[in-house]
Parts: sequence; C-alpha cells; structure tokens
Amino acid sequence: MNTAPLQGIKVIDFTEVQSGPSCTQLLAWLGAEVIKIERPGVGDATRKELQFDPNEPSYYFLQLNSNKKSLALDAKTPDGKEILTKLIKEADIFVENLHPGAMDKLGFSWDAVHALNPKCIYGTIKGFPVSSKFKDLKAYEPIAQVTAAAASTTGWYEGEYNVPTQSGAALGDSNTGMHLTIGLLAALAQRERTGEGCYVYQSMHNACLNLCRIKTRDQLTLDRIGYLTQFPQYPNEKFGDYVPRSGNTEGSGVLGWTYKCKNWATDPNDYVYVILQRGAKEFELACKGLGFEDWLTNPDFNTADARDRHKDEIIKRIESYTITKDKYEVTAELSKFGIPVGPVMSTKEIMDDETAYDGNTLVKINQGGKIGEFVTVGVPFTMSNYQPTYGPCPTLGGDTADVLKSIGYTDDQIASFAKNGTTAPMPAPAK
Ligand SMILES: CC(C)(COP(=O)(O)OP(=O)(O)OC[C@H]1O[C@@H](n2cnc3c(N)ncnc32)[C@H](O)[C@@H]1OP(=O)(O)O)[C@@H](O)C(=O)NCCC(=O)NCCS
Repeated sequence: MNTAPLQGIKVIDFTEVQSGPSCTQLLAWLGAEVIKIERPGVGDATRKELQFDPNEPSYYFLQLNSNKKSLALDAKTPDGKEILTKLIKEADIFVENLHPGAMDKLGFSWDAVHALNPKCIYGTIKGFPVSSKFKDLKAYEPIAQVTAAAASTTGWYEGEYNVPTQSGAALGDSNTGMHLTIGLLAALAQRERTGEGCYVYQSMHNACLNLCRIKTRDQLTLDRIGYLTQFPQYPNEKFGDYVPRSGNTEGSGVLGWTYKCKNWATDPNDYVYVILQRGAKEFELACKGLGFEDWLTNPDFNTADARDRHKDEIIKRIESYTITKDKYEVTAELSKFGIPVGPVMSTKEIMDDETAYDGNTLVKINQGGKIGEFVTVGVPFTMSNYQPTYGPCPTLGGDTADVLKSIGYTDDQIASFAKNGTTAPMPAPAK
C-alpha cells in the first residue's frame, strides 16, 4: 500500500522565491496536485537566480519546485482574473507569498477567495504578524532572522567578530514554508469537520521566533536571577539584561563545545561537537572515554554545578584530547562510552555520503535535458505506508494548455490568451 496522503487535493500555488515554494513542494511530494502560477515570460525569480547556465533554471529553482505544474498567467489582465477565478472555484488550497497588499490589489484576498469558494483554504506568508509594527515590510530570510532574535543570539561573543550573525539554515525561508504546511494540514483536518476552508496566516517572523523559543526561555531566567550558566564567556556571571551571543555553547544546560581536531589547520571543518551531560553516571563514562578519571574525585569537576564554574579548563582539556585525532576518530571513540558527539560535516561530505540516498534524506531527481540529474533534500520525515516519488520541475508555463483545457477552455480560447498577453509575453513592439 502506498497511498499519497494528499491525493485528490488541488493546490493553486501563487508563491515564489523560497518560503512559499518550499511549502507547496512538500504538498506536491505528499501527493497534492500543485499548479504554480508564474508571470508569463518572467516566472519565479529563482529561475534566474544563481544560475550555473544562463539558459537553464538554477538549482535554487530546481530544489523548490519539483512535482509541480506551471501555468503562465498574468493575473492583472481581465482574462487572467477569469482563469484564476475558475481555478480557485475548484481548489482545496490557495497559497500566496506576495508583498503585503499585493493580493488585495489583484482582487484575490482571503475574503475574495472565500466568497468564491468557501471550501478553499487560504495560506499566506508575510514577513510579520498583522499585529506587528513591521507588518507592511517586505521580507527576505535575513530580515526574519534579525527581527526574531536569531541573529542577536548567534555568533561570537567577543573580538571583531562579535556581530549579530545569521544562521546558515534557512530559518526565515524554508522553515516558514514548513510552518505554513503544518497550518494547512491542520486546516484540511478542520475542514473535514466544518466543511469550510479557513485563512492560515504564517509570518516569517513567527516561524523564526518559534525556533528561538529557547532564547526567550533564557531571557525569562535572566530577568529572574540575572545570570545564565551555559555561557563560558561569563565565568563571573556579569550579564547584560539581554541574552548574549552564545558562540558554540550547547545552550540548554549541558556543557557542549565545538573542538578542534588534528587537521583543523588545513581542513576548516575538522572539528567535533562533544557534550558533557549533567548526570553523575554519564559524567563517569565520559571521564573514562576521555581518559580524565582524575576529574571524578576533583571537587572542581565532579558535580555539574562545579563544572559550570570551570568551563574554560574543561574545554581546554577536552581539546587536548580531540586535537590528537580526526573528527571521525573522536566520534567513533567517544560514542563507545555513550558520550553525545558528532563531527562537523561540510556540505560536500554530506552530499557525497551514499548512505544519505535512502529515498528521503537526499534524493536524486532526473530533470532531463542539459540539467540531467540533480540532488535535493527529500521529505524530511518518513511514513510507514507512503513513499514519495520525486519528479522534475516544470518549464515556465509548460502546463498552461493542459491546465486551461482541464477547466473547460477551448483551443481557440487558449490561443487567444497567448496572443493577448494573458498566458504568454506580448511580442515586443516593432521598431
Ligand atoms: C519576496 C518579496 C520581498 C518580493 O517583493 P516584490 O519584489 O515586490 O515581488 P512580489 O512578487 O511580491 O510582487 C511584485 C508584483 O508582481 C505582481 N505579480 C506577481 N505574480 C503575478 C502574476 N502571476 N500576475 C500578475 N502579477 C503578478 C504582484 O502583484 C506585484 O505587483 P504590484 O507591485 O503591482 O503589487 C515580497 O513578495 C514579500 O515580502 N513576500 C512576503 C514574504 C516572503 O515570502 N518573502 C520571501 C521569502 S523567500
């Protein structure tokens, strides 16, 4: 049995760049029919961003639009509006992530879509919640990270690199798409009972803030007692009134750090993360694994609270162990003692790891033509009774005629939509 969970669900995808497309791609991988609306002759901006060949869509586009259909449509023309209206009348979900106010201007706000098709769920992504003073700002990834305390708490805590720092993970973009997906799936389940679609509003700010929950936990603690224990740069507990940048600390009460391994000078990723847990039994095993059994009887180290006060010495000594081996040797040796440990992996190492091609973690999609096969990250969870199939991305407007036919348009009408600029760019005026 391989039943696609969203089989029979029709999605009108008015999204572009990363946040919205990551959501609708996941819906497509879960079996929904996703019709991506793209401006004729222009398409999703990512088609032409970071291209490896000026005539081919970029990997940016390819990694976010698999298994979708593409309908080239200018929703500003009267015919474009009529076509979109027909599509919405048959849709289960409509998703958009245009700049604030753009959908209202086009005439397809939540209210308008709900009036057209009360069963249709409406998903929207904006930078900020409607209550926010920033609600009208356009937003990209870093805007979400800096406004949600991700950047102020990330990065080094001293010296010239003590600057708010972005995470390499797309906390504002793909993470927002995943959050919206949760909201849309909840709305589908709700519609089973109510028979009516609802409005799911997902801001990039809230998606990012949701992942910064532990930083708000730290703010609560700081407000209460004036210090936090997990930061090695504060042995004397002199904190400001805000959560500081945490460098490489684990951040949740156990003592973790990124340690240099033997090839660090030539390989910038020959590092390993090692965690000392707080429990006495775990600490004893860690001391055995590291060969530091003298710590077990030393009052500066043999309790978790004492270790909090001597982090610098602990970090230095553990590094004297890790520096003698490479990251894989450290991982293999310490993990035997139950010590939480992991090597710092480069993108190259991850994508070269054949065990990652398990049908979900990393997947290879055959796009055909000059692009051939490309690698992407699959559905991030597995289901015991469903295996997604990963198909190619559409060419710009590649499914226009088929989609228009499916909603009742004739060949003549389809030809006239192309001629009047609704589904194809108007020819440049003769000089
Ligand atoms: C990403 C963002 C900053 C880009 O802003 P932008 O450059 O103004 O581009 P948009 O795609 O929103 O809109 C540009 C115009 O194209 C129009 N447009 C887009 N698709 C169209 C279509 N198929 N037919 C007709 N018009 C279309 C919009 O209506 C808009 O017109 P307007 O300026 O007259 O209102 C903005 O869309 C935004 O803040 N989105 C919400 C947050 C988000 O998802 N950010 C992206 C994270 S990856």
